[in-house]
Amino acid sequence: MSTSFKSFERTAWTEKAANYDSLFADITAQAVPPILSAAGDLAGKDVLDVCCGTGDLAIALGEGGATVSAVDFVLPMAAIARDKASDAAVSVGDAESLAFADASFDVVTCAFGLWHMTDPAKALAEARRVLKPGGLYIYTAWGPAEGFDVMNIVNAAIKSHGTMDIELPPSPPPFQFSEEASALPLLTEAGFRNGALTHHIAAKTHRSGQEVIDILYRAIVRTPMLIDRQAASVRKLVLESIAQRAEARRVNGVFRLEWPFALGVATAA
Ligand SMILES: C[S@@+](CC[C@H](N)C(=O)[O-])C[C@H]1O[C@@H](n2cnc3c(N)ncnc32)[C@H](O)[C@@H]1O
Repeated sequence: MSTSFKSFERTAWTEKAANYDSLFADITAQAVPPILSAAGDLAGKDVLDVCCGTGDLAIALGEGGATVSAVDFVLPMAAIARDKASDAAVSVGDAESLAFADASFDVVTCAFGLWHMTDPAKALAEARRVLKPGGLYIYTAWGPAEGFDVMNIVNAAIKSHGTMDIELPPSPPPFQFSEEASALPLLTEAGFRNGALTHHIAAKTHRSGQEVIDILYRAIVRTPMLIDRQAASVRKLVLESIAQRAEARRVNGVFRLEWPFALGVATAA
């Protein structure tokens, strides 16, 4: 896999870290309760949160009684997480090459990180390596595509004004970790057993289409790639269309967009 997807990701997350908390972390934070419930009793456990972003999950894991380490591969995200999750040991590090000894953790979590990996199989193998045998791997991943309101609105806007036929940095299939048929074999190949997925929906209520554009451009990374690579004249029409399509859902002054996600749980063999 080309390294250009990784550099694209690194640059984009570095730019967007400062806005992530205010624009998007309230959506991903909706995965924290099901992650905690999958983790069970955390008292006295050593937990690693990979792709920690701005640290909300690390805080919750610590409040559950765990000793928490957390890594993110961009410094601005890690710096915010360090400020917020002051009890966690936060470091800058790559999920595909973790700087921890084998069998160091009882639980490894990765919330909405696998979607951003250049080589997700490597990230799974690394999570398996640093887990103690019998330890739990818990991840969340966006999907399925059906019901993924923001992505469907963006794709419809692009199809009506631009083209989907755009050359993008080669990257793994986005939904492979939210579908049983692809996710479970990948977990087994990485050395996990008893893999299982449950399906959930996060949602956010908006007052204007501009709020959706702000999320796309100021807080998240993969979805805007296709918009950015349209011709400049097309891009303006696509953005207007995204705002109109989102606002067309308005009821009593607001509209609600859903972000479906899967929660994967597996045991290190
Ligand atoms: C969608 S955010 C999720 C953040 C947080 N876990 C949450 O649920 O809000 C993805 C995070 O993964 C980080 N990331 C992407 N690729 C990574 C990699 N190879 N290693 C470590 N972190 C990575 C990004 O910097 C970003 O903070």
